[in-house]
Amino acid sequence: MVGCDVGPQLPKARNEVEVRGRHVLQIAEGCGCHGANFAGWRTGRSERLPRSRPYGERFTGPFGSLPASNITPDMETGIGSWSDAQILAAIQDGVRPDGTYLHPLMPSRAYHGMSDEDARALVAFLRRLRPVRNLVPDRQLTMLVPKPENGTDAPKRHPEDRGELGAYLVHHVSGCADCHTTPAGNGRPMGALLAGRILESGGERIVVPNITPDPRNGIGRWRTRDIARYLRTGSRPDGGLAHSLMAGLILTSFSHLTSQEADAIAAYLKSIPPVH
Ligand code: HEC
Repeated sequence: MVGCDVGPQLPKARNEVEVRGRHVLQIAEGCGCHGANFAGWRTGRSERLPRSRPYGERFTGPFGSLPASNITPDMETGIGSWSDAQILAAIQDGVRPDGTYLHPLMPSRAYHGMSDEDARALVAFLRRLRPVRNLVPDRQLTMLVPKPENGTDAPKRHPEDRGELGAYLVHHVSGCADCHTTPAGNGRPMGALLAGRILESGGERIVVPNITPDPRNGIGRWRTRDIARYLRTGSRPDGGLAHSLMAGLILTSFSHLTSQEADAIAAYLKSIPPVH
């Protein structure tokens, strides 16, 4: 997840596919866990907040230690030698070229629903990133990662309809549920969709609010245009500003949403069942 810092310096896109891929990368949380230089975790960097920019994160917990991978096109330490099909399989199916599975902290299950068009464009743009030589140490997991259960098949085309586009971006591109929904774990089932949670990050407990349209605990009193404006600028309808993880993400990622995309997300959030 992205800390409060400046966004990555992305190379220019040279054609339509790369323009699309660059945009997908930006609105998909800027692939921020991998670092502003996309080179993954760097051994010896500080574990404390603020994140050890420009390198990526390392997640630790009962599951072990999981450093973010180097996703730059470096031939030896990055994904430069992988085929497009191998990169797509990692992003959308959570399968590594050696046949083992990525840990679910990499949101492949969500990206499984990304359209072919968007996923292929993203891969084309990843190849344009500056290669960075950084050998990320192997993950140390306490349990084998099971085969991911992938629900839906990817839609072939990017949805154009407002309602579908909003759901698509929330669930398959921009990772809103990663933070706003309590994941299953320790014997409990997953929490109500987008109804908020407490997130532990870097030793801090962060309150992630309920973004269902409940008028008291959620954002039921926000108008569609308030939500869209908040996503692109961080200004709240009560005159305040976004804080914490959300402020960082708006800066690095969601401010790149087009007004049509922000409006579609806002309309979708107003349409889901309110959770008190
Ligand atoms: C990295 C975790 C993370 C992700 C991903 C994330 N959010 Fe948030 N969001 C937060 C946190 C933390 C806050 C609280 C910010 C604050 O206290 O100002 C928040 C606040 C909000 C709020 C304001 C709610 C309120 O009652 O103040 C809205 C609306 C919102 N997020 C929508 C979204 C949408 C839509 C997405 C996906 C496009 C998204 N968020 C993705 C962490 C996240």
